Amino acid sequence: MQYQPATAVANPNIAFIKYWGNCDPDARVPANGSISMNLGGLESRTSVEFDPSLDADTLELGGETALQPARERVSQFLDHIRRMAGIEAHARVKSANNFPMGVGIASSASAFAALALAASRAAGQDLEEIELSRLARLGSGSACRSVPAGFVEWVVEGCGENSAAISIAGPEHWDLIDLVAIVSQEHKPVGSTEGHTLAYTSPLQVGRVADAPRRLDLCRGAILERDFDSLAMIMELDSNMMHGVMLTSSPALIYWLPETLTLMREVVRWRSAGLPVCYTIDAGPNVHVITLNEYADQVQARLRELPGVLDVLAARPGGAAQMVEIER
Ligand code: PMV
Repeated sequence: MQYQPATAVANPNIAFIKYWGNCDPDARVPANGSISMNLGGLESRTSVEFDPSLDADTLELGGETALQPARERVSQFLDHIRRMAGIEAHARVKSANNFPMGVGIASSASAFAALALAASRAAGQDLEEIELSRLARLGSGSACRSVPAGFVEWVVEGCGENSAAISIAGPEHWDLIDLVAIVSQEHKPVGSTEGHTLAYTSPLQVGRVADAPRRLDLCRGAILERDFDSLAMIMELDSNMMHGVMLTSSPALIYWLPETLTLMREVVRWRSAGLPVCYTIDAGPNVHVITLNEYADQVQARLRELPGVLDVLAARPGGAAQMVEIER
């Protein structure tokens, strides 16, 4: 059988309401729902070709042959697609990001969203967006949020395996911008897959999860009404709650650096002085500073003046994962 190669692109995303901890770790069904914004202009581009003459899957990342455990993770993900499509062929996978690694932008989200789309098409499957989101989730939880466009909610009902993400507003809905203040480029000591397994060792996780529906309602409402102050309040609370869980896990996960805390305090101070700006932080020390696009230059200039800020990356709301023409 002859398979057609397929190439897809997807943006990473930044969560305003965070996913931390699983209800079903194997199926990556989260303990709580989450809300994010796709980061336009930043992308993973992934090509897949199934080839019956291969005796194993091959993986190239950024032009170099990938090592374990990345290869195994991709192979296990491809197994889902092989089962779904009823095929046995191995695949040649090539993926590259147009943004640097280790800068506090989770490349696994964009990588598995692009892989889900490219690999399912290469296997002859034309999935609906919700099915694709569900599939991407199996590779990396937050990847399900990089499938639909713009502002996205990962909906969780019980601990069901159907959990997937939907768009709640398109990228043009609100002119927000994410300015990622980079204070360290070092690789994080504990990745999120391992971090999720520690969430319930914190006595705070149960309370964080129980309160999630309230935070989701407030965040969704703030986005739909373009209410920056409300968004700022709930986004910072949610980030602090996740880091509260991390800091009180066994072992404790301390992702912040002194510079991280300086940035948090400065952002709050600027907002008190009337600037529409707020922060959120993932599993690392770098700070995502969210503002309205019209204030981007001013906020970016202020960030660059702070001690320890090595660089600032900018991203506006991005679109859905999509297929691209194959380059021959
Ligand atoms: O999808 P994962 O397993 O990389 O987890 C993502 C975890 C956070 O980035 C910290 C939060 C989130 O919701 O994106």
